[in-house]
Amino acid sequence: MVPINTFPGSHFTRDQHGLSLSGVSLLQLSKKHGTPLYVYDFDRIRQRASELSQALKTVSPTSRAFYAVKALSHLAALKLISSEGLGMDVVSGGEIERSLAAGVKAKDIVFSGVAKSRAEIELGISAGIGCFNIESPHEIELLLESLQSQGNKNIGAEKINVALRINPDVDGHTHAKINTGLADTKFGLSPVLAMTLAKKIQASPQLVLAGVSCHIGSQILDLATIKQAAKQVRQFASALLQLGAPLRHIDMGGGLGVAYRPSELPLVPSFLDWVNAAKLSLPNADIDLHLEPGRSIVADSGVLLTRVIDVKSGEKKAFALVDAGMTELLRPALYDAYHHIESVEPLTNSQTKAYDVVGPVCETSCWLGENVALPNIISGNILAIMTVGAYGMSMASNYNTRVRPAEIAIENKIPRMIRKQEVLSSLWESEHF
Ligand SMILES: Cc1ncc(COP(=O)(O)O)c(C=O)c1O
Repeated sequence: MVPINTFPGSHFTRDQHGLSLSGVSLLQLSKKHGTPLYVYDFDRIRQRASELSQALKTVSPTSRAFYAVKALSHLAALKLISSEGLGMDVVSGGEIERSLAAGVKAKDIVFSGVAKSRAEIELGISAGIGCFNIESPHEIELLLESLQSQGNKNIGAEKINVALRINPDVDGHTHAKINTGLADTKFGLSPVLAMTLAKKIQASPQLVLAGVSCHIGSQILDLATIKQAAKQVRQFASALLQLGAPLRHIDMGGGLGVAYRPSELPLVPSFLDWVNAAKLSLPNADIDLHLEPGRSIVADSGVLLTRVIDVKSGEKKAFALVDAGMTELLRPALYDAYHHIESVEPLTNSQTKAYDVVGPVCETSCWLGENVALPNIISGNILAIMTVGAYGMSMASNYNTRVRPAEIAIENKIPRMIRKQEVLSSLWESEHF
């Protein structure tokens, strides 16, 4: 039988043995390692990282992407992505330590995110990270105080690079919970406040105003919103240049969307289109473009395998009750997110039935798919929840005292376990009576 693409644009194929990823049978993997199980196509991650790096090189040789570590934080993924020349965009001290543990050089780390603590800022300074994306006046105070208390001892004569994160008050036209560019969100600085801070930074002998940053949200498919934000950033950056700021880069954040439904594939902008929209932020050709992609690098590489525990017909619906839920994949509960779901089993006919695919956690919001068209499902069948590489495992929890699942990476058609399933007793080993 000739394999057919089931989710076009990815490395999934289907034949008489069922669904495979990058030539590896997902049924075999589920038998060998159990379920729930995260599986990633590392070749796909490498390809995406490399494609974006190439697109950025059309702007300038030193324009660069910084991968948003929060999307998929596994050390092996960070190492792979860093080997393609991407730096890391982190939002916590933990992510700084994690990136360093993956072998990323400190100067290739940019620290984004609101409410950076004194301890996190001190960690960033002593590690020598590349840039702090500043989100509030308090962060500048903390930076200056930390530098003073460390007496500059860890950084020698080097200065600290900072970028000001602007809130452009632009609607990313995405889900409200991942829309970050509007003035009523907690993110960034108004241009007026940012200008006051710019003057303070310029007056400091220890800080260098190296950039401007902006991130208007995630899962953005309409580049018009990026262009709108980019124009405002350019205006602000031009004002900073007039102030004499030694700007070296504009960081237009992450946010490029992916296709969660096969029908969305034609709507997803290419990396080159994204770069061309974002580069409208550059006030002149000497300034590099930085991006902070997460989802667009890793989302479509990942699949979550889950076993059907029970099939139940309610008064109004049929339910496929599976062994993965909001603990393994929070996105449906958190954002009503859609994930395409397929049976991993060999298909014997084309007839389907509608099921709500729901998990075992005691919350009504523990669901994975509503009205999913699937072949007749029986207990023991394996289902594939697609496009879960981003914000999947990194959001997994131990709610209901559930262990987090194992993870498998496929590279050059060879699967390897990159994380064992958690051991149950480790969940209470730091608890005391
Ligand atoms: C500051 C910042 N940069 C980058 C990202 C990555 O976004 P995405 O995964 O949509 O590319 C995020 C995600 O929320 C973010 O908050």
